[in-house]
Amino acid sequence: MPTILITGASRGIGLEFANQFTADGWTVIGACRNPGEAEPVSAIGGIEVHELDVDDGASVMALKQALGDRRIDVLLNNAGIIGQRSGFGTLNYDAWAGAMNTNVFGPMRMAEAFADNVMASNRKQMVFISSRMGSIAETNPNAYVYRSSKTALNMAVRCMSIELAGRGLTAVLFHPGHVSTDMGGASAPVTPLRSVAGMKQQILGFTQADNGRFLTFDGDEIPW
Ligand SMILES: NC(=O)c1ccc[n+]([C@@H]2O[C@H](COP(=O)([O-])OP(=O)(O)OC[C@H]3O[C@@H](n4cnc5c(N)ncnc54)[C@H](OP(=O)(O)O)[C@@H]3O)[C@@H](O)[C@H]2O)c1
Repeated sequence: MPTILITGASRGIGLEFANQFTADGWTVIGACRNPGEAEPVSAIGGIEVHELDVDDGASVMALKQALGDRRIDVLLNNAGIIGQRSGFGTLNYDAWAGAMNTNVFGPMRMAEAFADNVMASNRKQMVFISSRMGSIAETNPNAYVYRSSKTALNMAVRCMSIELAGRGLTAVLFHPGHVSTDMGGASAPVTPLRSVAGMKQQILGFTQADNGRFLTFDGDEIPW
């Protein structure tokens, strides 16, 4: 069966991905900042849990060392933070730098570290959980920190999708919907189950023709 490596698997959307791909019989590697405290993911039968803080290059390299040359069919970069919700006039530049580190540098550290593992697999897929709040075409003047981090992620992934296309990469960015997680809030309209089921169905069907796309969890194209 194929192998998927999921970042931020401790809760929310990442945990649901771990549940659903395990149920499908995939080999699931769940990466969490604090595996000892991530009971729901550790309780999933058959899952392999590893420690990973995407903010920290040494932590990414330690995971790379632990996994060695294993083939990874899908690298699923899900870990992310809001950083700061308020906007102009009260911008916190430390929070902004932290959000860039987690939401942009983290996924790109993972992509660079595991590109060979992905390229050695059958599927050769990298999936990035972005947000339509990163769409410049759909800008609203709020959440500067989060929006700009996801816009930067979109551009970095677009660059990589073009550069590595010749090696067979399929890299896709998703907006998961407004999902009822700790980040999205309890009253958000889309459940993790529905969001992840929609993205998983697309991941299973992706071909290289999908490389570089920015899609909603239910398959619509998002303007950049
Ligand atoms: N929920 C929404 O409505 C929504 C909408 C659009 C996009 N998204 C995106 O979807 C992704 C998942 O969000 P969510 O709603 O599931 O959020 P969540 O419930 O807050 O979960 C965030 C996950 O990311 C992990 N994480 C944060 N910083 C990390 C780091 N430095 N290293 C490793 N893991 C880290 C957290 O781990 P800990 O448990 O250790 O904190 C947790 O597993 C994010 O990229 C988010 O931007 C969410």
